[in-house]
Amino acid sequence: MKTYEHSDMLKQLPDQFFAILAERVQKAIAAGHDVINLGQGSPDKPAPSHVIDRLKTAAEEDSNHRYPPFRGKQNLLEAIAEFYDREYGVEIDPNTEVAILFGAKAGLVELPQCLMNPGDIMLVPDPGYPDYWSGPAIANVDMHPMPLRPENGFLPDYKEIPEDVLKASKLMILNYPNNPTGAMASPEFFQDTIKFAEQHDLCVAHDFAYGAIGFDGNKPESFLQQPGAKEVGVEIYTMSKTYNMAGWRIAFAVGNPSVIEAINIIQDHYYCSVFGAVQDAAAEALTSSQKGVDELVDLYEERREALIKGAHAIGWDVDAPEGSFFAWLKVPEGYTSESFSDLLLEEAKVLVAPGIGFGKHGEGYVRVGLVTEQSRIEEALDRIKQLHIF
Ligand SMILES: Cc1ncc(COP(=O)(O)O)c(C=O)c1O
Repeated sequence: MKTYEHSDMLKQLPDQFFAILAERVQKAIAAGHDVINLGQGSPDKPAPSHVIDRLKTAAEEDSNHRYPPFRGKQNLLEAIAEFYDREYGVEIDPNTEVAILFGAKAGLVELPQCLMNPGDIMLVPDPGYPDYWSGPAIANVDMHPMPLRPENGFLPDYKEIPEDVLKASKLMILNYPNNPTGAMASPEFFQDTIKFAEQHDLCVAHDFAYGAIGFDGNKPESFLQQPGAKEVGVEIYTMSKTYNMAGWRIAFAVGNPSVIEAINIIQDHYYCSVFGAVQDAAAEALTSSQKGVDELVDLYEERREALIKGAHAIGWDVDAPEGSFFAWLKVPEGYTSESFSDLLLEEAKVLVAPGIGFGKHGEGYVRVGLVTEQSRIEEALDRIKQLHIF
């Protein structure tokens, strides 16, 4: 069979660290082991039943079998504006300040292609969601990691960014509630960010994937709630986590009209928008009762309690996350994040995500997901206890 050489761009894409991990788990399962997978980030519950019902009726509508409008259905654009007004008191123009995305991941990968040229730098959180690294590779631009340190509440310290890097920086990615650390951002941090972005002519893209998931009664802040935010950036919101719609592939960007226009232009070339029935169901999710969302947050909070209490009971000194559905747990002395997660997989058949997979500053931690039944989280801790590490 003839093999075609891949493009230079494809060759410079970063390795998918977690794809390799997933392969190892599949091998362990195929060998007959009962692996408890706490390494993944896919919600384990279904989408709300009334949203699924809306998808079914919308799939019967003839108009949804035609190409959808290039820039999304008007009812969804308006539902997004209504959602931002209701949840955050933020006014959004549905026609100029919203772009519909095939998942937040797609939007995040598109942004550097929309706003940057070779030689420009994108500022990314470290540790951070690994898909942030794909867009810069495709756009052939550089990245500069902003360390998230526990002593700063896992917020970046902008004073650490060297002057020459700042000069070339065009786009900054932030993400709170944070994957992988579970940290939340304060209004003051966002206010500082807006000032910093104004001073250095940066566009801020706030990835609000875990926007609905704050614990102890704390509702996560939208970046756009702060005055001036729309001047300096956009927020990306996904239906994947709030409504358990990860497989539906639908999200949206809201904020600065010139950035929204840039996303819409690139998408005019790649796609012709998301299946209309999925858009109708997304509109239903955003504008109907949010009781299911509250119940989901309660469920994650219960699992969080079980995980943190259980870890403390076996002598593992860890902190509870403030939001997201991840816990960021320090590895015991004498281990790296990889050697510790290898040990857990080999000896306890428990998968956790090694921190190094999220960037250099993820070393010393593992990420544990709360998207598995509480009984399995407890069993995982029982198995870890048997290893007598702590
Ligand atoms: C921080 C963060 N951003 C974005 C995404 C991707 O969301 P979507 O399913 O909308 O592509 C994820 C998914 O795990 C995530 O953790």
